Amino acid sequence: MLVHIVADDQDKISELRSLLGSQDRITSGLLDDASSVPKQCEAMVIAVDLRNADNIAALKDVSAAFNSTPRRIFVIDRKLRLFAAQAYALGATHVLFKPVYRQSLLAALNGSGKSKATSENDDQGGAREAASEGAVSLASMFAAVSSGQQVDTAEARHAAGRICDTIAEVGFSHWLETVRRHHEGTYQHCLLVTGTAAAFGLNLGLAKSDMERLYSAAMFHDVGKAKIPLAILDKPGRLDDQERAVIETHPAAGYDALKGTGGISSEILDAVRHHHEYLDGSGYPDGLCAAEIGDIVRILTISDIFAALIEDRRYKATMARAEAYEILCGMRGKLEAPLVAAFKEVALNR
Ligand SMILES: [Fe+2]
Ligand SMILES: [Fe+2]
Repeated sequence: MLVHIVADDQDKISELRSLLGSQDRITSGLLDDASSVPKQCEAMVIAVDLRNADNIAALKDVSAAFNSTPRRIFVIDRKLRLFAAQAYALGATHVLFKPVYRQSLLAALNGSGKSKATSENDDQGGAREAASEGAVSLASMFAAVSSGQQVDTAEARHAAGRICDTIAEVGFSHWLETVRRHHEGTYQHCLLVTGTAAAFGLNLGLAKSDMERLYSAAMFHDVGKAKIPLAILDKPGRLDDQERAVIETHPAAGYDALKGTGGISSEILDAVRHHHEYLDGSGYPDGLCAAEIGDIVRILTISDIFAALIEDRRYKATMARAEAYEILCGMRGKLEAPLVAAFKEVALNR
């Protein structure tokens, strides 16, 4: 495979070259030398500071070479993760956050071992485009919440609607595979939850207006995580009690950030605040009991838990869908049993 590295300084090129090791063929060039992009390369790895307007302009100059390259992997400093939206807008197919591990870089380059033909099939189905649009929308929503600005709800609802249409078209399994291959962390989680909720809603035969409420709620559900420090949010392994208490502030933080925003109904606000409540009253933040938890929230909670279990995380093996469904079945008293039974078809077969 011919891989071309573009960076804004030589050290980044050296670092990426040593990470890639003995790839078939590696070329590289500094961003200001657009002529160095080889024709017909199969992947580009781009490591430039996206805060710099000159860099953005220079990247736009090489956009023709970008667009003819099947995989376009942007490497972004974790502290600047909100620039992921900018990367996707520039045509990224993957965004990796520093520190980048060899394994995740190779997985991105190889599309987790998938062939080029599979990647072209993705393009036909539109799942990759829908996932990228969703990630852009999530990134701008998270940026708005973390800086105390108003969220563009129309953009997020549109992106969620497109995810639902894509699942109806290409299937749930294809969606899961595409999202897990191309997206990381909280955005991957939100895209998986939105897809799972949409697939579940389609299976339940919900009316169009309920579908819209459900997939929009899924898209917004974890926006309060924009207020949680990354060290806790992305911590591999178990959280201690103090960290867990911080994480548990995210439903109320999301609710506070969205209330009063145009285009957000009370049902969506309710789902954002209460998606971690359980029927037996053991959830958070308000310890609600069965009758106080609405239908959309119950569907979203099942979708959220399932999506979290089957996420693709660097530090743990991906759980099989059947195993994740078994865990849902074991949560007796917490989740609505008939809904969990109805979810079986989505979890295992859809
Ligand atoms: Fe959550
Ligand atoms: Fe969640």
